[in-house]
Amino acid sequence: MSEGRLNGKVALVTGGGQGIGRAISLRLAKDGANIAIADLSLENAESVVKEIEEMGRKAIALEVDVRNRERVRDVVGQVTEKLGGLDILVNNAGVGAFNPIFEIEEKELDLQYEVNVKGLFFALQAAAEYMVKNGGGKIVNLASQAGRRGEPYALSYCMSKAAVISITQSAALALASDKVTVNAVAPGVVDTPFWVEVDKKFAKIQNLPVGEPKRRVVESIPLGRIEQPEDVANVVSFLAGPDSDYMTGQTVNVDGGNVLS
Ligand SMILES: NC(=O)c1ccc[n+]([C@@H]2O[C@H](COP(=O)([O-])OP(=O)(O)OC[C@H]3O[C@@H](n4cnc5c(N)ncnc54)[C@H](O)[C@@H]3O)[C@@H](O)[C@H]2O)c1
Repeated sequence: MSEGRLNGKVALVTGGGQGIGRAISLRLAKDGANIAIADLSLENAESVVKEIEEMGRKAIALEVDVRNRERVRDVVGQVTEKLGGLDILVNNAGVGAFNPIFEIEEKELDLQYEVNVKGLFFALQAAAEYMVKNGGGKIVNLASQAGRRGEPYALSYCMSKAAVISITQSAALALASDKVTVNAVAPGVVDTPFWVEVDKKFAKIQNLPVGEPKRRVVESIPLGRIEQPEDVANVVSFLAGPDSDYMTGQTVNVDGGNVLS
């Protein structure tokens, strides 16, 4: 039973207003942590806060665009002030982009870099600074199977998620002596609003009916079913808790067997 093993801990989850971030927030609350949810959508963040409060934990919602470095620093300050500390950061906020190679515009590359790479780094940097001064902590980044391999219609997204794996390794080494561990998860095809959009985009690119691209990728997953947000949350819970204390710099594939490494 994991319940209670994060009692007294404070976790900040970026992009926690829906999808995987919501499932992670609920799971860490079930483990005993109080949760700060920082999202572009304050409305979604507030709705997850209500769910967490119903579980008897403290939770706060904060509006953030992780591309705004000053705002990210401010959010970390507000979390430590309102919830009394910061022990866990889950760097989950992210966006996708899917286009054939000759249709990739500069603004697509910029957006992937700004949100998935720079935004993730801003949160990591601000949280780690607090953790180093306060005895340590745990950082978990959301990478993707797309960061492990190339994909024909996801060049910019793959690029950004490969960078997340690289940041995880360098930050882990930079922070190890200060008792901050940095790990990542690499999910596969997860049943969230994100994949509804991917499916529509792939249907257009490949001239297939909506629903068909998703059906095909799910059919090819070795474990034979689409991934649920809770499948990711279970592993994040492990990486955020004491059972992973001797792990750092790792990216754990949570993808039903899609990528073997
Ligand atoms: N769904 C998948 O199949 C899948 C697979 C692998 C990795 N991932 C990664 O997992 C993470 C969550 O994905 P999801 O499927 O839940 O996506 P989602 O689109 O359902 O949710 C993403 C959340 O991030 C927030 N967000 C987006 N841009 C932001 C910004 N600039 N600042 C703050 N918040 C922002 C959104 O408001 C939203 O709440 C992402 O990093 C994604 O790349 C998803």
